[in-house]
Amino acid sequence: MDKSRFLYEGKAKKMYLTDDPETLLLEYKNDLTAFNALKKDSLEGKGTYTNRISAHLLRYLSEKGIPNHFIELLDDRHQLVRRVTILPLEVVVRNVTTGSLCKRLGIAEGMTLPRPLIEFYLKDDALGDPLVTEDHALLFGWASEEDLRKIKETATRVNELLKALFESRGILLVDFKLEFGKTADGTLILADEISPDTCRFWDRASGDRLDKDRFRKDLGNVLEAYETIWNRLSGEGRA
Ligand code: TMP
Repeated sequence: MDKSRFLYEGKAKKMYLTDDPETLLLEYKNDLTAFNALKKDSLEGKGTYTNRISAHLLRYLSEKGIPNHFIELLDDRHQLVRRVTILPLEVVVRNVTTGSLCKRLGIAEGMTLPRPLIEFYLKDDALGDPLVTEDHALLFGWASEEDLRKIKETATRVNELLKALFESRGILLVDFKLEFGKTADGTLILADEISPDTCRFWDRASGDRLDKDRFRKDLGNVLEAYETIWNRLSGEGRA
């Protein structure tokens, strides 16, 4: 594997150029961060789970007609993806109230929402990824009306598909974050990762948290939670 052409390092992944200008090599890191990287750790094996889980879910979404950047899983830590220019928006979909929604608005935890809530956050670490409105995105040029329409439609469909998939494995999809990007020809597609680093998963039977909240809240057994998600998805240890 040729990793000589390093492009970018984020909190959870590294990116490399390949011989094909439209294809990037993604390396999933073992690093875990929370609260805008104020809290950091590294967990041997974490990158393997996020790489596999994200590949599995993105492949599943491709099969269900959701275009995304995933091309091929290479090994435990690497996958090939299409090169896109990421829009500076984090798109959060919520089915159940928790996390920053409850903190910001004083809403009770654990309420099932009557329909999914879609929120936009500006991708800007220096500002702490603030919540923004669609009008902000339009006026400041972070996305067009057509982009926002397509993003909301795709996010809603991804939620329906993943909620049903996880439900069949005994897991409640509480909320998750998506990112979108544009290919060289300007087509908007789903990008980045979908894993326990970027979603909240609650075990249906026990209520156990099976995601990065175990790290954020010092609940312990972080790797075991990621392993549980992988085993349920890949067919081992199904509920
Ligand atoms: P929040 O409740 O902290 O806003 O998180 C909502 C969802 O977005 C949750 O599934 C975790 C995910 N998320 C990320 O993937 N990256 C982030 O930087 C943050 C803050 C949340």
